[in-house]
Amino acid sequence: MDSHSQSAVIEVPKGSPLGKLADPFVRLQHGLVDLFKKAGQQTAISAEVRSILDHCRVRTDISDHLLALFGAAMSVSPRLIVELGVRTGESTGVLAKVARLCSSRLVSVDIDDCSGVCDLPGWLFAKGDDIEFAKTFPSWARERGLPDRIDFLFIDTSHIYEHTVSEIRHWFPYLSPGAKVAFHDTNQRRVYFRRDGSVGLGWNNARGVVAALEDYFKVKFAERSDFTEQLPRWLIQHQACCSGFTVLTRVPSMEASR
Ligand SMILES: C[S@@+](CC[C@H](N)C(=O)[O-])C[C@H]1O[C@@H](n2cnc3c(N)ncnc32)[C@H](O)[C@@H]1O
Repeated sequence: MDSHSQSAVIEVPKGSPLGKLADPFVRLQHGLVDLFKKAGQQTAISAEVRSILDHCRVRTDISDHLLALFGAAMSVSPRLIVELGVRTGESTGVLAKVARLCSSRLVSVDIDDCSGVCDLPGWLFAKGDDIEFAKTFPSWARERGLPDRIDFLFIDTSHIYEHTVSEIRHWFPYLSPGAKVAFHDTNQRRVYFRRDGSVGLGWNNARGVVAALEDYFKVKFAERSDFTEQLPRWLIQHQACCSGFTVLTRVPSMEASR
């Protein structure tokens, strides 16, 4: 991942009149935040973490979570990583680092052609709807000599409730016993805050992603705050900032303890 200039990305809903109107105010607010910045992680020993920190200096809708994404994926030492939702490849760049370090295979899926965003040798990009692709995934993976179970699954696509429910239904059966699944946009709203206090403009998805998780786990989540939750066979860790980032860890030996 290349670092890019501070002014290169200020995220607003693309082309929307509201976004254009808000842009100077967002830039001003970011300037003020820079003056009184709260310190996040500033230094790193390893080149990989250093390069992610450097990349995160540019504020995007996911910049607060790239390091957590790296940590979550590294912690399972994955053989197979599947990423749903690529766009410009913020998450792809991080997952490619994990794949290099752990000799994992990385499969990325997007409905748009994002085949140019990553130069990881052996990276597989599948263009298409992720639900349709899920239906043929086992044979597709077998034909390419991939492991038959997914150790790390990252979901960051439409953020719409029905689609997320479908992603869970179609992709979770392929998870390995100790797999992790990370979701972005589990606290999505029109105006969101990053950890440093800077604002970003998003859209209201009517709690689509987190509501799909609530349905799956049959519990309610208070996604506006950080939380850690232990549910039967799953550990759930949630960060509320920057549209929300939630990591589910499958713990097969965990007794039902609610
Ligand atoms: C928020 S962006 C992904 C951002 C990316 N993870 C990153 O960190 O830069 C969402 C992406 O999901 C893709 N998408 C939306 N619906 C999809 C679907 N049904 N199947 C596959 N991809 C989809 C969009 O084309 C878009 O590129």
